[in-house]
Amino acid sequence: MTESTGPVVSSDAPITSSDPIPTPLASPPDILRCAYMELVVTDLPASRRFYVDVLDLVVTEEDEDAVYLRSLEEFIHHNLVLRRGPVAAVAAFSFRVRSPEELDKAVAFYTELGCRVERRKEGFTQGIGDSVRVTDPLGFPYEFFYDVEHVERLAWRYDLHTPAALVRLDHFNQVTPDVPRAVKFMEDLGFRVTEDIQDQEGTTYAAWMRRKPTVHDTAMTGGDGPRMHHVAFATHEKHNIIAICDKLGALRLSDRIERGPGRHGVSNAFYLYLRDPDGHRVEIYTQDYYTGDPDNPVVTWDVHDNQRRDWWGNPVVPSWYTDASLVLDLDGNPQPVVARTDVSEMAVTIGADGFSYTRTGEELPEWKQGEHKLGHQL
Ligand SMILES: [Fe+2]
Repeated sequence: MTESTGPVVSSDAPITSSDPIPTPLASPPDILRCAYMELVVTDLPASRRFYVDVLDLVVTEEDEDAVYLRSLEEFIHHNLVLRRGPVAAVAAFSFRVRSPEELDKAVAFYTELGCRVERRKEGFTQGIGDSVRVTDPLGFPYEFFYDVEHVERLAWRYDLHTPAALVRLDHFNQVTPDVPRAVKFMEDLGFRVTEDIQDQEGTTYAAWMRRKPTVHDTAMTGGDGPRMHHVAFATHEKHNIIAICDKLGALRLSDRIERGPGRHGVSNAFYLYLRDPDGHRVEIYTQDYYTGDPDNPVVTWDVHDNQRRDWWGNPVVPSWYTDASLVLDLDGNPQPVVARTDVSEMAVTIGADGFSYTRTGEELPEWKQGEHKLGHQL
């Protein structure tokens, strides 16, 4: 077998926080998976066109103020809510828990942390029953529910599948200034780290964390926050992602493509990043790996490895590092954004000066160094 100087593999995530949120005595709720995101959009018809006519998500229900969408293999009422509102933002990152009793645990867990907690027996959205919403210690609006309306799983309805079919909600991605602090809190909530990006000085730039046995249900990305970096839907195959690019081109909507398509280093998934009419970022993602064993290894990438974000070494556009969506408090007001004080990933990965590498101990070829400056790519 050929030797590879890839990422470091360990049994536990080597991330510690110097400013930890205290671990509650109360047990966390048993979370199954990321279930849906509630997005506030400023032009509902435009957003509906993007998510329904372009991305082919399925409308479960809609009214004057909201559209409830699901992916083709989903059996719960929705994976995405588009709600009309004055400021583009995220109203909820929603997770399904294992049983109705877990909601009592969610209330106790977040109450002990001093968070604002609101429970509604009738739910906060159509199709969902008893639910708990909180503003978590990191400033994010999280929701937990078990009770939900079942709808037809359209997996076998190939008459409805298009070349670009989105089959599952895969994950969320959150922007937070202090990644180790966020990771420690999420571990208290029952999440485990699958992969992370660090440097030799001990700075952590991002971490991918899971409940379901895939690479992640959410990731913590270092930056000014709390903000939402993206919501990701899965396709079955890589060719479905190419089909989305072709469709966007045919519709003269190629400017919706922000980054990719490509192969991630982290997660090993094939990816594409799009921006919706409000600028909310959506990732199309496929073919990461199984992580369900209790001793699943943790993968740590060096921030200077230019294959970590794109396995083929393609540069990351600056907007991908800097732009993200606001998140709301439980009254619907945007949460204040706190600046990251740790060094930013974008600042340390300028390739032309030798900070990035493909092979340890070697600089990029001369002809490739310039591309990190041409077009302002990093
Ligand atoms: Fe992602």
